[in-house]
Amino acid sequence: MSKIAVIGTGYVGLTTGVCFAHLGHEVICADIDPEKVDALSRGEVPILEADIDRLLAEARQAGRIRFVLGATNAAAECEFAYLCVPTPQGDDGSADLSYVEAAAREIGPVLPTGAVVVNKSTVPVGSTRVVERALGRSDISVVSNPEFLREGSAVSDFLNPDRVVIGSDHQDAAIRVASLYVGVPAPLMVTDPASAETIKYAANAFLATKLSFVNGIAAVCEAVGADVNDVVLGMGYDQRIGREFLRPGPGWGGSCFPKDTRALARIAEDAGYDFKFLRGVLDLNDEQFERVAAKVCDMVGESIEGRKIAAWGLTFKANTDDLRDSPAIEVLKRLSEQGASIRAFDPAVHGPVAELPGVEVVADPFLAVDDAEVLVVLTEWDEFKWVDLDKVADLMRRRQVLDARNLLDRSMLVRRGFNYRGIGRS
Ligand code: UGA
Repeated sequence: MSKIAVIGTGYVGLTTGVCFAHLGHEVICADIDPEKVDALSRGEVPILEADIDRLLAEARQAGRIRFVLGATNAAAECEFAYLCVPTPQGDDGSADLSYVEAAAREIGPVLPTGAVVVNKSTVPVGSTRVVERALGRSDISVVSNPEFLREGSAVSDFLNPDRVVIGSDHQDAAIRVASLYVGVPAPLMVTDPASAETIKYAANAFLATKLSFVNGIAAVCEAVGADVNDVVLGMGYDQRIGREFLRPGPGWGGSCFPKDTRALARIAEDAGYDFKFLRGVLDLNDEQFERVAAKVCDMVGESIEGRKIAAWGLTFKANTDDLRDSPAIEVLKRLSEQGASIRAFDPAVHGPVAELPGVEVVADPFLAVDDAEVLVVLTEWDEFKWVDLDKVADLMRRRQVLDARNLLDRSMLVRRGFNYRGIGRS
């Protein structure tokens, strides 16, 4: 079993640390936030992530995980140092590597001879070299090992992945990193660093493409009177297409897809290739926010100014409390700008949302719909399906639902006199 330092305890770093400890390794996780380090040291998990509390408790009990302040305190005795720090979007759409470089510069002087530094953060192609330079050590190998973790199910994605990708110019370092995954049932692929880094971007951009495509098909379905749910079901039987990732919605968001898709377009541009198609994928997503907002306006009729709208869902998808680049926020921002009076409910959001200063966030779904003219469903939380519709019908001023996730039972709503509209279906 190996000694692993994990630098950064966001959802990627924390999941990586906890899962490696679960696999039997000795893990030290570092962060720059003293409160977070204290909380994690007490076994308190600051993120909403299935199973992580249990695995952290087990690892602490077995003495296989510790949390420390500052990267050097974790890296001084490690055999592997995983960089799991943020790579936010820079002003020009490219990924900002400053956190990665700073972490590498910090641990460079203290890493034991022969240690391997592993890049798990999503970094532009060529970053392995950037990290090598920042480390300033010829005895340290740098390996790319991109993550494919979905928020909310990151633990299960780590322990049962579709594949593990390792990119390195040093075969011995690649084999050592591969050995960390003993016990993980997945194909393991070793390639060069540029290919590993590209795999990560290409995978996210392809998934985003699938979603923009299906949202485009939903628009076609509306125009021709087809039902997108049946259309994607029929498409998904074709194994070359597959059933996953074909749910239409209010657009795609989160901390990864928008940032990574823009970054790939930028990487291509910098390398001399104008990836028009990918820019089209991004434009379609912006259009989707507009389309959903326009549907709400259309259901209200005339002017939306001062009209009461209810929103269910604020997070970028269900089972997370993450609001970053949330399609729900994009849609509500547009409605708010036109003067709508909005009350929103989300099971994971308990206070005002900075990007939506005019929107009142309430504590239950009924408070949101009280006296509203349209209810718009923006996140696919399972609990929305079980809300008492009779009560909703009684409370609303007009019985109108725009179900931007095609989540609710249309016939139950229609039976109660609702004007129901979905995405890609009437
Ligand atoms: C995504 C990828 O799925 C992970 O493989 C990747 O590792 C991660 O980004 C990352 O780069 O770190 P995540 O951001 O957690 O994971 O979110 P997803 O579950 O992929 O959902 C992204 C967006 O697509 C959400 O807004 C979601 O609501 C939307 N979506 C997803 C749909 O509208 N329809 C679908 O059928 C699926």
